[in-house]
Amino acid sequence: MKLMKPDIKYSRSFVQAVEELRLRQEDSFFRAFGRPLTVDQYIKLTEKHAQKKDLPQGWVPYATFWLVDEDEFIGELHFRYVLTNYLRNYGGHIGYTIRPSMRNKGYGKQLLALALPKIQELGYSKVLVTCDETNIASKKIIEANGGAFHQANAQGKNMPQKLLYWIDLNTDS
Ligand SMILES: CC(C)(COP(=O)(O)OP(=O)(O)OC[C@H]1O[C@@H](n2cnc3c(N)ncnc32)[C@H](O)[C@@H]1OP(=O)(O)O)[C@@H](O)C(=O)NCCC(=O)NCCS
Repeated sequence: MKLMKPDIKYSRSFVQAVEELRLRQEDSFFRAFGRPLTVDQYIKLTEKHAQKKDLPQGWVPYATFWLVDEDEFIGELHFRYVLTNYLRNYGGHIGYTIRPSMRNKGYGKQLLALALPKIQELGYSKVLVTCDETNIASKKIIEANGGAFHQANAQGKNMPQKLLYWIDLNTDS
């Protein structure tokens, strides 16, 4: 298993994963790009976004990582380099998705665990990670990776609270 930069080599399983997400209406990140993209175009665009180029309105620059196991795309993680007011209160530094057919096999935990040292290498000493209070899998992933609960923020009527955790990257735990 490895966490790496997106690579066209894994396009077949990546396309399958995006289709699984689309069927579950969990593809809002990809839809935000506004038009269908080939995998090559998608990868190039995320590289541009990392360099602060061609960002959609309101987005901050971010790095993209792919979790790959046995030559198959398993999941994607985005690390946002800066926090806006919204990200500080709701979105945090990190967003991640595991391919629906690969969930509940421990990959989510591994994805975040492998990303933290890479984020530390980028010069960060702590990261803000958030989840809805109803997202039990994500809550467990964050807590298993050293997340220290910070606060819960209301998101509006009939919406779950957003739980905010800080992960200190300078500890060995
Ligand atoms: C959240 C998500 C990343 C979890 O990935 P995953 O690979 O299934 O997670 P893991 O297999 O590592 O499971 C982590 C823990 O959650 C539990 N879990 C997994 N799916 C669960 C579910 N649907 N309900 C409750 N618990 C669940 C696992 O049993 C495991 O528990 P354990 O620590 O007691 O062993 C995945 O469901 C996903 O991509 N969801 C959509 C996007 C999303 O919500 N991203 C997070 C935004 S904050």
